Amino acid sequence: MIHPILRMGDARLLRVAEPVTEFDTPELHALIADMYATMHHASGAGLAAPQIGVNLRIVVFGFDANARYPEAEPVPSTVLINPVVTPEPGGFEEGWEGCLSVPGMRGVVPRHARLHYLGFDQFGKVIDRVAHGFHARVVQHECDHLDGILYPMRIADFSRFGFIDALFPGQDIGED
Ligand code: NI
Repeated sequence: MIHPILRMGDARLLRVAEPVTEFDTPELHALIADMYATMHHASGAGLAAPQIGVNLRIVVFGFDANARYPEAEPVPSTVLINPVVTPEPGGFEEGWEGCLSVPGMRGVVPRHARLHYLGFDQFGKVIDRVAHGFHARVVQHECDHLDGILYPMRIADFSRFGFIDALFPGQDIGED
């Protein structure tokens, strides 16, 4: 089922989400299926459960190619539950981000260039990876949603934040 995506300003996006305590349940599998359906319907690169009003520490992300981020390298399709993200040495990197909860806009956000992430999939299997580039950016963006943080809160230079059609006139990179 495709869910409406909450938009910035909704207080439910600002909560700290609760850990998942039971894996491989029909309810969890149904929620993950809904999150994928909602993400794909919106052509998103990722989606966090709080964005559909579910206050649990679950994110989904990944794509082979994404219309909203045509330059981005592929990111493995991943269900990540109760994630722990640890920056690795490598400093910060700037890059453009958008968010399905902030439709029509983009901003440049500094993120850790490299990180380690640890968590579980929907079956309770451990996911333990290192990531860099857009993959690392997506993980940080989605996991921020679990702590009530939206990307505009991470922007350092507001001269590079705005509406897509005003920032990139003539380029078709999607409406949101
Ligand atoms: Ni987002």
